[in-house]
Amino acid sequence: MKKTIRDFDLRGKRVLIRVDYNVPLDKSLNITDDARIQATLPTVRYALDKGAKVILMSHLGRPDGKPVSSMSLSPAAKRLAELLKTEVIQCSDCVGSRVKEELGALNGAASVALLENLRFNPDEEKNTPAFAGALAENGEIYINDAFGSSHRAHASIEGITKFLPSGAGFLLEKEIQYLGDAMQSPKKPFVAILGGSKVSDKIGVVENLIAKVDKILIGGAMAYTFLKVKGVDIGNSKTEKDKTELAKTILDKAARSRVEILLPEDHVCAQKVDEQSPVKIEGPSIPTGWLGVDIGPKTIECFKRALSDAKTVIWNGPMGIFEMRPFAKGSEAVAQTLAGLKGAVTVVGGGDTAACVAAFGLAEKMTHVSTGGGASLEYLEGKVLPGIAALEEQ
Ligand code: 3PG
Repeated sequence: MKKTIRDFDLRGKRVLIRVDYNVPLDKSLNITDDARIQATLPTVRYALDKGAKVILMSHLGRPDGKPVSSMSLSPAAKRLAELLKTEVIQCSDCVGSRVKEELGALNGAASVALLENLRFNPDEEKNTPAFAGALAENGEIYINDAFGSSHRAHASIEGITKFLPSGAGFLLEKEIQYLGDAMQSPKKPFVAILGGSKVSDKIGVVENLIAKVDKILIGGAMAYTFLKVKGVDIGNSKTEKDKTELAKTILDKAARSRVEILLPEDHVCAQKVDEQSPVKIEGPSIPTGWLGVDIGPKTIECFKRALSDAKTVIWNGPMGIFEMRPFAKGSEAVAQTLAGLKGAVTVVGGGDTAACVAAFGLAEKMTHVSTGGGASLEYLEGKVLPGIAALEEQ
């Protein structure tokens, strides 16, 4: 068991909290989805209630070790101030004497500060001890509440734990609890739903899940690679030609482990990826000149039946191109089915799938929607995340 924020006396202390405010921004630098900021509020509010001075730090985007103004954390600082209804000091950098001066203002009325994008400094990703030590000088206790970044062995995630007492924030704790319970002690039947575009992204997850689940439902573009291996004509659908052997190995492994793999029986097909393009239902084969853009109605019914008695469900990857309304029915039906399951634990992997359930207004109906994209995939692959491993034990 890792230490958590509850294990520290925070009164009067400078608490340095790593958050993942790597949020999507539009062209005018407005935040289009603040879920990652909202998800850290319980930890920030708890620290404030306990009388701490809160110093938050995050990365945003991939600026490659130099300042890039469009990747400043100022939109996040503004949004955080609105959500907390308090002033948030926005620092000009993340280390150094100027930052120390700026943080000096925490002795006054303001109790929250946000450091500037950690990745403006190349040493964050290199995880140099000198940079981790300089970051640590900003606080007295380190809390990791950045599940979404915990698969990165970076200075603010891993290196810093060598300099400060460390523990998990409430978001990190919750992510480990839901994802961990689903993987280690799932209530059966346990069903995994995998989608998205690439077999290669999900291969590690499938391999790890085969030993644990009862069924795997596969949709999205990755399904076409599997169908092709089974000799089904898939028309002009997207496939990964170099992954057919891999897909075959997975099917063989599943058969040996008696895990049922359900592939689409029919598809919504279009001639191009354009929401104005006319669609038709075909299946299981897809005619030449057409490509699959979503699972079809028969598949939706089949997936619903497969899920009807599930007690644990993990969903990672949409069933079609849900961003385009005519190609969203499969993902929406899956989201609605999960929302309606009685007494089941439903865990949705981050990134696209989180955006998908949010787009259908169903995020609140899931047991847990992870804030991690790559991090939740690595967790489901059974990997040890360096940011979690580095925290102190209780
Ligand atoms: C994410 O969005 O998955 C995390 O913030 C990690 O970002 P990265 O892939 O750029 O390290």
